[in-house]
Amino acid sequence: MSQANKPLFNIVSSEHYLCGLMSKEIVVSGIRSTGHLHLGNYFGAIQHYIKMQDAYNCYFFVADYHSLTTHPDPKDLKSSVFRVLAENIASGLDPEKVALYAQSDVPEIPELYLMLNMLVYKGELEKVPTFKDKVRQQPENVNAGLLTYPVLMAADILIHRAVKVPVGKDQEQHLEMARNFAARFNSRYGDFFPEPQVFRFSDETVKILSLDGNGKMSKSENVNATIYLSDDDDTIRKKIMKAKTDQGPTEPNMVMPDYIQNLFSLMQMVSAPDVTATHRDNYNNCVIRYGDFKKQLAEDMAAFVKPIREHATELQKDHDSLRKILKLGAEKARASASVNIEGARKLIGINYY
Ligand code: TRP
Repeated sequence: MSQANKPLFNIVSSEHYLCGLMSKEIVVSGIRSTGHLHLGNYFGAIQHYIKMQDAYNCYFFVADYHSLTTHPDPKDLKSSVFRVLAENIASGLDPEKVALYAQSDVPEIPELYLMLNMLVYKGELEKVPTFKDKVRQQPENVNAGLLTYPVLMAADILIHRAVKVPVGKDQEQHLEMARNFAARFNSRYGDFFPEPQVFRFSDETVKILSLDGNGKMSKSENVNATIYLSDDDDTIRKKIMKAKTDQGPTEPNMVMPDYIQNLFSLMQMVSAPDVTATHRDNYNNCVIRYGDFKKQLAEDMAAFVKPIREHATELQKDHDSLRKILKLGAEKARASASVNIEGARKLIGINYY
């Protein structure tokens, strides 16, 4: 065990929650609060979060401060946060097992963000590809929050002294920066923060492509070729029936084009194994009828999404329950964050009383 992984304090807490979790590795991940969740989010991330909830000490939060970089309308913020919470819970995330909270409920995060900002250089932030993309996309709103996004993300992670962070490829550079900032803090003030590593789900993670064959499913683009967890049965049927196909295989055991492979991947996740096997055989024997294949997939997908959608809709109406969940999550997160911020303050020398 490296120095940084050792608990700095003996947390003597009567809280059953903390005690039960102390031996488990700490995992942090942020959930964006913008846009509707889709099958790509479900099969690419949420499903894996759910598998992690027993084995790890998980801190999952809605990244509402991060969303402010684009100045969302204040009257939409609560509903976005409640929706993403409800959709994650309806998908199987258990607020009893993990700490599920809003970033803005943990004031220790912006406090650590401020401390880290003093160790981070303007030049290195300006070089980050995601920042450069934003500058291109929204030249009228290149705010300091956008520039320091990786610092806030590092604070999200380091505040719990996390060791593993499940993120997609697009976030790996941000994570590398979090490791750099942790190392910088450690070398200046003393070993305190572990360097967080990317948590890779097993290799079986499949990419969910857009149904029109153009790129991935998306929270905001390609809406007619993306299946959202909020789509009703008929919308799902229509989208799948319109999915891109072709004339069909012309010789036995032909390699599938990616848009057909994608439909099979989806079927594998929602249909009975023998159903998928039959259609696969039909493809390999060149007797597949895409109309029937898609009809089957559409029905099975609609049946799969329905209970998630219905549960999420119910939860979104139940503000009392959502508030309770947020409160519980904030308590768990702050139990960890307050100890760690205290440690950081002491090392920096903010230690007056
Ligand atoms: N930047 C991440 C994204 O866009 C969300 C995020 C914010 C995050 N803070 C985090 C992910 C901390 C992991 C850990 O998806």
